[in-house]
Order: sequence, then C-alpha cells, then structure tokens
Amino acid sequence: MTPRNSQVTRWTLTAIIIMSTLPIPLHTYAAHQQVLHLPPPLITPTALPVPNATTPYWTRYLSKDHTPSLDHGSKGPLTKDADICIIGSGITGVSAAYHLYKAVVQDGRPLNVVILEAREFCSGATGRNGGHLTPHAFAHFTTLSKRFGKEDAIRSLELERYTSTEIRKILAESGKTDDVDMVSDGRVILLFSKEEEELTRVEFDAAKEAGIDVSEVEWFSREETQERYGASYPSVKIPGNNVWPLKLVSHLYNLASSSSSSFNLTLHTHTPVTSISTTTTPNPAHRKVTLQTPRGEITCSAVLHATNGYASHLLPFFHGEIVPTRGQVISVRANTPSPFGKGREGFVGNDGFEYWFPRPKSVKRDDYAEGEEERELVILGGGREAAKNGKFEFYTVDDSVVNPEVGKVVRGFLPAVFPGRFDNGTEPEMEWTGIMGYTRSGEPFVGPVIDSTGRRYPGQYISAGYTGHGMPRAFACAEMIAGMILADLNGEGWHRPEWFPTHYLTDNRTIGQYV
Ligand SMILES: Cc1cc2nc3c(=O)[nH]c(=O)nc-3n(C[C@H](O)[C@H](O)[C@H](O)COP(=O)(O)OP(=O)(O)OC[C@H]3O[C@@H](n4cnc5c(N)ncnc54)[C@H](O)[C@@H]3O)c2cc1C
Ligand SMILES: *[C@@H]1O[C@H](CO)[C@@H](O)[C@H](O)[C@H]1NC(C)=O
Ligand SMILES: *[C@@H]1O[C@H](CO)[C@@H](O)[C@H](O)[C@H]1NC(C)=O
Ligand SMILES: *[C@@H]1O[C@H](CO)[C@@H](O)[C@H](O)[C@H]1NC(C)=O
Repeated sequence: MTPRNSQVTRWTLTAIIIMSTLPIPLHTYAAHQQVLHLPPPLITPTALPVPNATTPYWTRYLSKDHTPSLDHGSKGPLTKDADICIIGSGITGVSAAYHLYKAVVQDGRPLNVVILEAREFCSGATGRNGGHLTPHAFAHFTTLSKRFGKEDAIRSLELERYTSTEIRKILAESGKTDDVDMVSDGRVILLFSKEEEELTRVEFDAAKEAGIDVSEVEWFSREETQERYGASYPSVKIPGNNVWPLKLVSHLYNLASSSSSSFNLTLHTHTPVTSISTTTTPNPAHRKVTLQTPRGEITCSAVLHATNGYASHLLPFFHGEIVPTRGQVISVRANTPSPFGKGREGFVGNDGFEYWFPRPKSVKRDDYAEGEEERELVILGGGREAAKNGKFEFYTVDDSVVNPEVGKVVRGFLPAVFPGRFDNGTEPEMEWTGIMGYTRSGEPFVGPVIDSTGRRYPGQYISAGYTGHGMPRAFACAEMIAGMILADLNGEGWHRPEWFPTHYLTDNRTIGQYV
C-alpha cells in the first residue's frame, strides 16, 4: 500500500466510523426542499393553535410574578375598537408593538394598539424554540444571490446582523442583558462531512468576495475542534447569541406598554381570531376591518397577521406557502460541568437540522436543583429529518404531542457527537414541540396581504414564514411593517427603506405556484 492509499483508507475508515455512530441521517436538505416544493396536501386549512400544548422549558421556570402574566387580559370585556390590531404575541407581534410605541414617542400622534393571542402570551414558536438568536454570517449566500441578486443577498445578511445588534443594544441600555440570559459567545457550526465542509467554504468565499464582513469568522480543524469543544469534526465559528426568548419578548412588551399618554397597548390572551372581514359600512373612525373572536368582535383600521406557522388559518391562500412545521426540543443534562469546553457557545450541525447550547449557570438558579451544578443542562432541538414517513413534520400544528421517532434520534445525538460527556440513555428532563412557518425559498412574507389572484385586502398586513430562523429576522421585519402601516394610516407615501430585502416584500412575490 502506498502512503497515499493508506491515507485514503484511513479517511474512508474514519468516515465510516463517523457515519455509523451519528444517529441522524446526513445530507437530507435536498430531500427536505423537494418535499416542501410538492403541491400542498388537499386538506382543510391550517387549524388554530391547539389548546393543550406541551410545556416548554421556557415557561416552566418563569417566576410567579412574571410580567405580563401568561394569561393577561383573558378575562373581562374584550376591547371593542383600536387603531391597529396585532394577531399573535410572539416576537413578530410584540416587536411590531414595540416599534409602533417608538414611533409614537417620536412623533406624538396617539395610537391605540391591541394584541390578540389565541393561547397564553408568547406561546407559539417564540415561546417554545431553541433559544438561538444568531444571524447567518454567510450561510445560503450563493443561493440567495443566484435567486434574488447579490444586493438583496447582502441585505438579508445585514438585516440579521442589525436585528442581533439592535436587540443587544436595547437590552444593554435597559440593564436587562443578564435578566433575559442573553449570552453572546458565538455559534460553532460542526461540519459532519467533507461535502458539508466544502459547501460551507464556498458560501464563505462568496460572501467575502461580495464584501460581507467575515473578519470575525474562525475556522477550526478536526483536532482544534476536539481540543476546544470535545467533538471530532472540523468547525467554523461565527458571532451569535443565545437567549431566553420568552423573557426577551416580555421585556419588549413591557417597554412598549410603559406609561405613555399617547401610546395605548392592550393585550388579550386566550382570544383566538376566528375570521376577518372588510368593513363596508361607513363609520366615523374609518375602521376597515372587523375581527371575530369567541369573546366578541373588534374593529380596527389595520391588522397585522403575526401568526407565523398558523397564518393560513385566516388567510387560506397561504396554504402551501407558509407551511406549519413541527419542531421538537429537549433539555438534557451532561455528565460534566463543561461538556463543550470553557466557553458558552451555541452549536449547530447537519445543515442546521440540530442546534444546541448550554444554559448559563453563573448564578444559582431555580432550574439547577441542589447538587446538580456539576451536570450542565443543555437545550437541544432537531431530528425532524428522522421522521420515518419522510415528511419532515410538515403540515402539522399539533404541538400537544412529541414525535417518538424524532425523540429517539435527539436522545442519541449528544452522546455520539461528544463522546464521554453525555451518558447514553440519560432521559431528557423536558421534551416539547412547537410550530414553525416554512416557506419554499426560506424567506418570510412581509407587507400588505395579497392573494394568489393579486387581490389586496384593505388594512391587512403580514410578517410571517421565517422558516425556523425568526429570532434574527422578526424584529427588523416588524420594524419595516410598523413603518408601512403607520405611513398608510397617516396617508403618507411609503418607500422601502434601503436596508430592507426587496424579495421579502409580498408585492414582489407570487403565491400559489409550486415550482
Ligand atoms: C421548536 C422550535 C425551535 C426553534 N428554534 C429556533 C432558534 O433556535 N432560533 C431561531 O432563530 N428560530 C427558532 N425557531 C423559529 C422561531 O421560533 C420563529 O421563527 C419565531 O419565533 C417566529 O415568531 P413569530 O412571532 O412570527 O411567531 P410565533 O411565535 O409562532 O407567534 C405567533 C402567535 O400567533 C398566535 N396565533 C396564531 N393564530 C392565531 C389566531 N388566529 N388568533 C390569535 N392568535 C393566533 C399563536 O398562538 C402564536 O403565539 C424555532 C421554532 C420552533 C418551533
Ligand atoms: C386605551 O385602551 C383601552 C382599551 O382598549 C381603552 O378603554 C382606553 O379608552 C384607551 N385609552 C386612551 C387614552 O385612548
Ligand atoms: C389536544 O387537543 C386536541 C383537540 O384540540 C386533541 O385533538 C389532541 O388529541 C389533544 N392532545 C392530547 C395530547 O391530549
Ligand atoms: C447509545 O445506545 C444506543 C441504544 O442502546 C446505541 O444504538 C448507540 O450506538 C449508543 N450510542 C453511543 C454513542 O454509544
């Protein structure tokens, strides 16, 4: 055997060993996209959020005096009228309220805003997710460039970076960074195969070539990754954050509802909107829309659909455009205090299908029972690609159950990737699901509501469909849509801010074409 051959043999053997010990299927992204591009199943439109959802880690450990209370505004009379209604109290809806509040503070024109939420406060994807608030540094850059042009691909990355920077700034200015467990130690992307490594290099080079600032990106060899993090794969580290999403959104809500004589924010939880109609009778306040709920109806001049995965319940023409997709997450303990080395980085692997991070534990917390400080708690999500029917958990809104097939692979994942640091067979402390909104391009729909025939719905707006990647995008999309709504209400012309990606806008999209 020549040295070169033995090299190849050794590499092949390593590859086989890696393949056989990782309990997840690799390279499923193409199949995932293929299934997503199929015409939607002929089923009745997306249901409302189910009432009996699994409990996520993020609500289990909230203190009793948390504000807003999770059932805020669920009793008593329903508000009858408002300037703007926001449907959904996740990061999109609450960020929109926050930006409207900022606008009123600036220009003084009074505004009544109501948030309507089907279940508890922030009980959708935002309150049940994996806790990563990490802008892509270069991922998908070539795909986006090819499809939407280089300028728009750059805008997409910039929008994510802006979101992360802006949220960190708001937290720092109000002294809340630690209260919401915002940790900004970066993200490590593990590259499980040669193909994934090569593809990642291509994206990185293209973004760099296009002038994207990649100066903070660090590449590590297999040996360096093993040394730093305890996993034997090459990796690349980018800037990024982890956070307690429900606490972040609660803080934004509290800022927006802080005393202001001109801005009036009302929240009604346990108030699903069941239908929307255009108001045709003339009325003094020029209200354009009427929303129906089991608690009565409410009129307003503009309504924002901040319903993400559930959008097509009220807007049936989004069926197949924003696909409700179930994600699953566990919290599980390592057998050591620092399973991923000294830092507090978050991680992704396998084209982003798996994502995990260690909970911060600098202070004694109620989620670390006596004597358990020695066993780090990790939040890990993923495993959709292992669903045996090959459907990637598309077209389900049932987050009252977990999928045992998905549960099996996430249980085996950390013991396989970080040998010796997780005991194989350790049961998760918690396991839950949540509903994301997937689009075929991966990009959200932001703008006025327009259906497949090009018809517009007066006073209706949407920002939804973040495709499992909403934390670094929703806040900026909400800023854009809040500006658009205000311009329309005030009869001023609206112009796309230069920084906003043109391809997110509903005006530049056609829907109902499954190609
Ligand atoms: C398991 C899981 C893990 C994830 N991990 C990450 C991650 O680590 N990082 C990341 O960036 N993204 C992640 N995501 C995606 C991210 O959470 C979403 O992109 C983001 O939270 C979307 O925010 P939103 O406010 O638009 O939607 P949501 O948070 O889903 O809010 C929509 C709200 O609308 C309400 N609603 C729906 N229909 C109605 C109606 N008719 N009437 C009244 N209310 C209604 C829902 O109850 C819900 O509260 C994850 C998602 C899931 C499910
Ligand atoms: C604020 O909103 C509440 C409920 O919607 C309403 O009763 C009240 O009159 C509003 N206040 C102002 C100043 O508009
Ligand atoms: C939750 O409620 C729905 C009906 O809204 C029902 O179909 C489902 O079976 C329930 N889930 C569980 C786990 O009980
Ligand atoms: C963990 O246990 C399962 C089932 O016993 C086994 O298939 C798997 O190979 C084990 N993983 C590791 C990393 O030992």
